[in-house]
Amino acid sequence: MTIRWKYLAILVIVAPLLGFGFAWSGLMSVRASTGHWAATDWFLHWVMGNSVRTAALSVDAPPLDNPALVPPAAGHFETGCAICHGSPSQARSAAVLAMLPPPPDLKTVVPTWSDAQLFEIVKHGVRFTGMPAWPAQMRDDEVWDMVAFLRKLPDMDSDAYLRASGLHGIGKAGEVSPLPITCESCHSERRLEAASVIPRLAGQSEAYLLNSLRAYAHGERASGIMQVAVGTLPEESLPELAAYYAKQARPQRPALPADAQLTEKGREIAEKGRAADKIPACLSCHEKPGGNPAYPRISGQSAPYLERQLRLFHAGVRGGSSFSHLMTEAAKNLKEDDFAVLAAFFASRENGGP
Ligand code: HEC
Ligand code: HEC
Ligand code: HEC
Repeated sequence: MTIRWKYLAILVIVAPLLGFGFAWSGLMSVRASTGHWAATDWFLHWVMGNSVRTAALSVDAPPLDNPALVPPAAGHFETGCAICHGSPSQARSAAVLAMLPPPPDLKTVVPTWSDAQLFEIVKHGVRFTGMPAWPAQMRDDEVWDMVAFLRKLPDMDSDAYLRASGLHGIGKAGEVSPLPITCESCHSERRLEAASVIPRLAGQSEAYLLNSLRAYAHGERASGIMQVAVGTLPEESLPELAAYYAKQARPQRPALPADAQLTEKGREIAEKGRAADKIPACLSCHEKPGGNPAYPRISGQSAPYLERQLRLFHAGVRGGSSFSHLMTEAAKNLKEDDFAVLAAFFASRENGGP
């Protein structure tokens, strides 16, 4: 018995040393060109699948069958994902097919995963493969938008994809302009509807637009979508973009139908606040004649966008300009029922603001 223990001890010490020696010798190939053995390939994908399935057990998927979730994710897919995975309008390039493992064509693999599993992959990425994590880890709402888009992807032809992503600009009737994804692909007033989760920029305060663009560029406001959209722009172009949108007239747009009682409750908080919960009157800062231009115009914004932002402020993860702590404080004590009523009220208030 004692002798066996001795052998075992030697094995435990020697085996790692041998492995370490092999790694040190340089004989272990890291070449992607030679590929994996079929067994290694199978094993790695098996490990990845198991890991994703287990992690997804604790994830509850929200309802995703809302067409308004698709456009921001489709536009982001074109800039952040299609370079590796290809898209309905562009095949994968020879360069990415030489990656190890090559990024799969998502049209064919998406149906093999559940919503929660796709969420897990898109949020956290896959180690050792080149599949990146979502750039803003606290923005689960954006990751779910991407899952909603991925679900639609297998049935999308090139036309549907161009329409969803705004890839070819939004020309007047029938006009196609071969542009890459631009600000207008997502923010054009012609594209935005009352249910959009993308904010309207036309007629917003210039100071606020500029502060927001800088906050995204410097990582002080978390959004995987917007951080990628402004990440590569030169700092000098931000004031021009802010001025461009501030000057645009904002067309009238009816809000989503909301119950009058809801909007009335929202008005109550907006005008008077709620002293019992230390919630200030929203209109004591927002859209006050002669007020600080760094406080944004929120009337006429879409209800789903407003509600998301309020929830982010309430959770303390919205970030933003150097004034954003004021809003975090204002949203801190909001209750679950308040988000929808405030969003409904401000969305219905088309002509508010100075
Ligand atoms: C730099 C290249 C790269 C980028 C950019 C990239 N991916 Fe991937 N992705 C990969 C690779 C490589 C894999 C394969 C991982 C594996 O086989 O384990 C992968 C796997 C996936 C999978 C799992 C598919 C499967 O069955 O293996 C999904 C879903 C996915 N990516 C979605 C996305 C989305 C959405 C984006 C954009 C937000 C994105 N990817 C951006 C490289 C990339
Ligand atoms: C792929 C779609 C997409 C593209 C492209 C895009 N945006 Fe955005 N933008 C969004 C979304 C979604 C949000 C909301 C992000 C958040 O929750 O913080 C947003 C937010 C913003 C905001 C903050 C608005 C507010 O009310 O707080 C500004 C300013 C902005 N975008 C400007 C731009 C500019 C300028 C460009 C072009 C350089 C651009 N965006 C490109 C989707 C996009
Ligand atoms: C003390 C001043 C103050 C009060 C009170 C206040 N806000 Fe704000 N709010 C701000 C500031 C400042 C910002 C912009 C933060 C930034 O620059 O990133 C903001 C941003 C917002 C935004 C995000 C807009 C966008 O386009 O992303 C929403 C929505 C909002 N406020 C709603 C409300 C509501 C609803 C109330 C009332 C419950 C309220 N605010 C009360 C100062 C205030």
